[in-house]
Amino acid sequence: MSVNKLVFGSCENMSELADKSIHLAVTSPPYFNAPFDYPDLFHTYDEFLEMIRNVARELKRVLDEGRIACFVCDDTLINGSKFPVVADITKIFFEEGFKYRDKIIWVKPEGYIRISRRSGVMLQHPYPMYFYPDNLQETILIFQNGSFDYSRISDEKKKESKIDLEEWSKEKWFLSVWRITNVLPFANRLEKGIAAFPDEIAYRLITLFSYKGETVLDPFMGSGTTLKVALNLDRNAIGYEIDVELLDTVKEKIGIGKQAKLVNKKPFEIVVREDVKHLRTKLQSRVTEQKSVTQKSKKVKK
Ligand SMILES: C[S@@+](CC[C@H](N)C(=O)[O-])C[C@H]1O[C@@H](n2cnc3c(N)ncnc32)[C@H](O)[C@@H]1O
Repeated sequence: MSVNKLVFGSCENMSELADKSIHLAVTSPPYFNAPFDYPDLFHTYDEFLEMIRNVARELKRVLDEGRIACFVCDDTLINGSKFPVVADITKIFFEEGFKYRDKIIWVKPEGYIRISRRSGVMLQHPYPMYFYPDNLQETILIFQNGSFDYSRISDEKKKESKIDLEEWSKEKWFLSVWRITNVLPFANRLEKGIAAFPDEIAYRLITLFSYKGETVLDPFMGSGTTLKVALNLDRNAIGYEIDVELLDTVKEKIGIGKQAKLVNKKPFEIVVREDVKHLRTKLQSRVTEQKSVTQKSKKVKK
């Protein structure tokens, strides 16, 4: 049976995976109802949190003892209201029995702000109470499924997965703040409309929290960034994605699509379940609508 797997269906149910069969999860859930990524994906914030709780329960079951789940996420701003996504995900994982091991702040370069420049309000109203900062960060939450038994890892396994301390020190992996350029939504990119995170995030997390030959899971696979990096780092890769419209994108990104050279093709089991959705086309036309409304209101204000 193939160890590498793509499952199209909701990760609230990962029945294809055996208990304790996963060594690391690296993921980024949908950004609640973020206007430029997932407008109206969930009916309510509670529905979003319920989905996160179901995934936390499944991760508790499939992760091996002491292993890690990393969630790249951010609070979401919708029509001027902030939703405390980071705090709520932390609380849910805590309640579901995970240890809250760490929090890394991922800082993007200034000038790379993708969506709204809220700070402009101050330029028009340079008075107290008009302060709204531009957001340059996301949070990487790191949860642990109990205690890790370091004695279970052989010396040979340690040797082949040794961390390159020169890179660790030069790139400042040791800090709780990581400065990494984000994936920009250029036209014709494979990740267009997906809110993908950069390879570097997956690269650091997989290097730091798994050994070669182990299995890395991304329950919210999107374009397949985690899987691509895991395969490059000699790990096995499993991904879940609810949107079946991303099937070809993922295949291309991980090198098993039509364009891939036969020699690079890794054995992958692909499962398409009945609970898949067709999201991208619908979401992208909603995003285009939102953008044109925003443009029009900017013109009116001028
Ligand atoms: C922020 S994106 C992940 C992007 C990914 N990290 C990348 O680099 O391409 C979140 C993904 O979760 C998917 N998703 C939403 N609800 C899901 C569910 N219940 N089960 C599986 N995938 C889901 C969305 O369709 C979206 O592609």
